[in-house]
Amino acid sequence: MAATPQNLLRARVGEAVAAAFGDDLEMPEPLVVPTSDARHGDYTTPVAMTLARTLGRSPYELAQRLAAALQVEPVADPPEVVRPGFVNLRLHSAWLAQRVGELVGDECVGVDPAPAPARVVVDYSGPNVAKAMHVGHLRSTIIGDSVANVAELLGHEVERVNHVGDWGTQFGMLIAHLDDRGPLGEEAGSGDLAQVEALYREANARFAADEAFRERARRRVVELQAGDAGVQKIWRWLVGLSMAENQAVYDLLGVRGLVARGESTYQPMLAKVVADLEAANLVVVDDGAKCVFVDGFTNAEGEPLPLIVQKADGGYNYETTDLAALRSRVEQGAGRLVYVVDAGQSQHFQMVFAVARMAGWLPEGVEATHVAFGLVLGEGGRRLRTRSGDSVRLVDLLDEAVQRARRFVVERAEERGEAVPGDVDEVARVVGVGAVKYADLSQHRQSNYVLSFDRMLSLKGNTAPYLQYAYARIRSILREAGWDGGVPDDRPPVILDEPQELDLAKRLVVTGDVVSRVAEDYLSNHLCTHLFEVAQAYHQFYEHCPVLRSPEPLRSSRLALCEVTAATLRLGLGLLGIEVLDRI
Ligand code: ARG
Repeated sequence: MAATPQNLLRARVGEAVAAAFGDDLEMPEPLVVPTSDARHGDYTTPVAMTLARTLGRSPYELAQRLAAALQVEPVADPPEVVRPGFVNLRLHSAWLAQRVGELVGDECVGVDPAPAPARVVVDYSGPNVAKAMHVGHLRSTIIGDSVANVAELLGHEVERVNHVGDWGTQFGMLIAHLDDRGPLGEEAGSGDLAQVEALYREANARFAADEAFRERARRRVVELQAGDAGVQKIWRWLVGLSMAENQAVYDLLGVRGLVARGESTYQPMLAKVVADLEAANLVVVDDGAKCVFVDGFTNAEGEPLPLIVQKADGGYNYETTDLAALRSRVEQGAGRLVYVVDAGQSQHFQMVFAVARMAGWLPEGVEATHVAFGLVLGEGGRRLRTRSGDSVRLVDLLDEAVQRARRFVVERAEERGEAVPGDVDEVARVVGVGAVKYADLSQHRQSNYVLSFDRMLSLKGNTAPYLQYAYARIRSILREAGWDGGVPDDRPPVILDEPQELDLAKRLVVTGDVVSRVAEDYLSNHLCTHLFEVAQAYHQFYEHCPVLRSPEPLRSSRLALCEVTAATLRLGLGLLGIEVLDRI
């Protein structure tokens, strides 16, 4: 466990509770929390308040007993008891200075590996073939990538899985339509996704209107599922086309290691999924469809809601596929399954998890989590659309962000009379894509948010460019000091005499807490807030405390603070999937 003040103090408070009130007492939670007001110290323990309720005693008296038993040296100053029954703790500056000293040169800035590494499958992105990725897939990709990065840093064995929608009735319809209108430059290899999407719209309209077409489409699905070579060839071509287009988005985003394992992968396992559910007596046939009813799930009318695992026509569906995928992931040793999918699918995942538990495919100890997120809206709070009313293509959205970032970088340099960076295209990509990602990850993921290029590319506020520019400025100071290649071995100890130094140090030592919290609740906005607070504290420090102009040993001490700040920003942004640049 990371040697953060909170972890250390929590252990001490735990010991003190045992010493003062006995071992057999149920340990109250939380033991130690950060305070919101510096007048109450840096941390406080509300334990006496909780105990007062259970024991029916005065909280103040219990707080005094607790404080008497509490040994917080050398982390914090002697505890202070305040009414009605809090024990406040103030970090000792010598301890902080020593701790910051330990973090110098530590790439992980005090984040320790998880005590029990597991195999973690993160299912994210999940675009659908023959349809362009939409902003929901963008959110899934950005959030999922960050979830995977955090798990990986904590030492887990992470598998990044792209559950591509590459199977289903839409292919029958597409292929039947292609039968009539001829191939889409398939032979010449010249079809593109825009054409396929148009085709999809046409096919959809025919499917809705024309019974004979519907029949033919169904036959094509059956042929596809039966492995008919001709139909499979067209299907593979459609999948390839879509994936090539999606790859352009992944490349721009810098998303790597995401393995496509589409719905078709699980096709051979579907029959067994249903057969095993039947053998376990979990299936009820309702109107020809094979259903599993799950306690607690009802429809709008309050009637029991089933998970349909096989349709009346014999076809399997999205639900069956997710059951098969979950089962195979667990069989292959996954200890944790994470699904990063929009909140609209919450009920789907809750039911899939419940059915998997009933079937014994999700054993106790294997954790399955739906990491749900809200919508991305256009300015004005409406759905994101182009002027012509089409949905926005992700490549276009990212391109626009990069172009705007380019103007932003050039204008800023000109305003300050600095040279425009020579690699301005690369800078624009890093800043533009970083801005899009950060704008997403800094929101509480469950809420909807309005996409605003102006806001995400501002240097005033909690944005990626603000942090990236702060990082580049710190790197330039380190460069000037000759610290950019590594930190000198014979550094003098860190000195924290100025309030701004102390304040910055207090932020720098808690990264381990923040990362372990994000690893548990998948709320990256806490990490963003932390990075923003670090950058702001650094800004205050830099305003008040000269670095390069200070005499030794102060100069080295302040360079150490710069170094740990830069490492924190680099690590934190890296976990969010955002790159940093040494010069902007
Ligand atoms: N293709 C799905 C969609 O666009 C997302 C897939 C999510 N992952 C999963 N295992 N169901 O809605």
